[in-house]
Amino acid sequence: MSTPPINYFLFPWLFLCCRGVTTGVKVTVPEAVGAELGKSLLIPCTLSHDGESLQSLSVMLVWNYKNDTSCCKRLVYFHDSTRDITESKRMNVSNDLTLHIFKMSFADVGSYMCSLSVVGHGTSVATSKAYIFSAPTTPEIIIESNLTESETTQKVGVCHSKDAYPKAFVIWYQDGQALPEQQVQNVWTRQKNQLCSLESVLTRQITRQDNNARFHCQLVYNMSGANFGWPPKEQNINSTSVNIVVHYPATRAMLHVQGHALEGNVVTLECSTDGNPQPLHSEFYRILDNGSRLHMKNGRVGNRLLLYNASRDDSGEYACSAAGLSNLQATTSLHVYYKPKGLVMPTPQHESHSVAWDLDKPILSHREEIRVRLGKSLVVHCNATSSSRPKYAWKKEGIGMAGQVVSLESTLHIKKVSYKDSGNYTL
Ligand SMILES: *[C@@H]1O[C@H](CO)[C@@H](O)[C@H](O)[C@H]1NC(C)=O
Ligand SMILES: *[C@@H]1O[C@H](CO)[C@@H](O)[C@H](O)[C@H]1NC(C)=O
Ligand SMILES: *[C@@H]1O[C@H](CO)[C@@H](O)[C@H](O)[C@H]1NC(C)=O
Ligand SMILES: *[C@@H]1O[C@H](CO)[C@@H](O)[C@H](O)[C@H]1NC(C)=O
Ligand SMILES: *[C@@H]1O[C@H](CO)[C@@H](O)[C@H](O)[C@H]1NC(C)=O
Ligand SMILES: *[C@@H]1O[C@H](CO)[C@@H](O)[C@H](O)[C@H]1NC(C)=O
Ligand SMILES: *[C@@H]1O[C@H](CO)[C@@H](O)[C@H](O)[C@H]1NC(C)=O
Ligand SMILES: *[C@@H]1O[C@H](CO)[C@@H](O)[C@H](O)[C@H]1NC(C)=O
Repeated sequence: MSTPPINYFLFPWLFLCCRGVTTGVKVTVPEAVGAELGKSLLIPCTLSHDGESLQSLSVMLVWNYKNDTSCCKRLVYFHDSTRDITESKRMNVSNDLTLHIFKMSFADVGSYMCSLSVVGHGTSVATSKAYIFSAPTTPEIIIESNLTESETTQKVGVCHSKDAYPKAFVIWYQDGQALPEQQVQNVWTRQKNQLCSLESVLTRQITRQDNNARFHCQLVYNMSGANFGWPPKEQNINSTSVNIVVHYPATRAMLHVQGHALEGNVVTLECSTDGNPQPLHSEFYRILDNGSRLHMKNGRVGNRLLLYNASRDDSGEYACSAAGLSNLQATTSLHVYYKPKGLVMPTPQHESHSVAWDLDKPILSHREEIRVRLGKSLVVHCNATSSSRPKYAWKKEGIGMAGQVVSLESTLHIKKVSYKDSGNYTL
């Protein structure tokens, strides 16, 4: 359909005057033009001729329109002093012959023919196709709430968008990686306003490795390009990214002691599994020395067993079973550490110093003075009791030897005390 037929009924003048005349006039239009819905569409019609000024000649310009259902509607007719624009509220022609449609609508999609006739120079017709574009709305992603690990494919989620024209390409992403299009099924529906709405469904196999994976969908669509809207330029728009939660069965249970198990504290045992979600609650047992199990009914909170004011007697073997699942069991041994109390007992006689402390405290400093007669010996015991063997270090802060370690024993023994032994000793 390169040269549309000239409607000689409308232009009898052309028929009579110009048939068979070698044409020296030529119009060109862009092969295609485009505009966004509601925006203005411009179709330039450029005239070239063989030099002679057309000013004085009789010129006729006609813009015709046709589409698949309607043929050859005359939009514009200019001849000499006659200027006739059929729908002057919707369109106009500028002095350079450009057709201007103010607000592009679906009824304006079709072919536009610029036809120019000059007496003595013949007629030239050129056709341009007009396209309409509309950007889709930001796609909305909805992920299935109950994704379960499975051997087969399942519906993972759906993306919705509307107001697109023409249809867009749909790409689904998992953690930024495009997914194969075979996993995506798109259903486009024509809206009342002729724009298209989309329902895109992602169906694929989901495994436990996909737990927490981020999914989003992307629409790649064409919008009107730089020069009279053609060729179109591609743009894209993304949905938000959504993390999926995958449910999968547990294969084993685990029992852990949380934090430091210290006497007097609350000691927490937690039962968990390698499945998702975690069991709603677990049962706890103390395994007695003779192998029998004591059901721990007190202190159970969900998957935790809380031992308030724990004591060394709570040390031992424990077991848990994760409820609701295939009776998965785990065991652990608990060792409750106790805070040692220390006692410093300096000898010699008469000078009894004792102080109790808690090894929990990071720095111990005993400031009480011990007076010793010159030449006598001094023994300071430190016996601490602890659930694990405590380490001792006596330090002397003398002149020029700050923090020097003088003994690593629990007992500080200085034979024949001299003046240089004066100073602060810390443990
Ligand atoms: C149509 O275009 C002509 C020539 O450019 C101009 O004089 C006239 O004002 C325009 N009419 C409208 C309705 O824009
Ligand atoms: C074809 O053109 C007619 C007349 O302008 C218009 O009413 C109709 O909507 C158009 N049809 C299509 C499919 O664009
Ligand atoms: C989730 O799916 C599993 C198996 O597919 C089913 O047993 C369970 O009832 C579902 N839960 C919800 C809340 O739909
Ligand atoms: C949409 O997401 C894709 C893939 O993550 C990315 O390449 C692209 O730049 C994003 N587009 C926009 C407009 O942010
Ligand atoms: C955009 O238009 C170009 C040219 O017509 C075409 O090759 C491309 O596939 C289109 N892209 C989309 C997303 O429709
Ligand atoms: C194991 O010891 C506990 C208390 O020490 C006792 O109550 C229980 O009967 C004993 N069980 C067996 C099987 O000996
Ligand atoms: C904690 O237990 C010890 C003995 O094990 C007891 O002397 C103390 O009163 C208990 N403290 C509390 C707050 O129950
Ligand atoms: C500290 O240790 C000494 C020597 O081993 C011992 O005689 C004394 O009874 C202990 N004191 C305490 C409170 O444990």
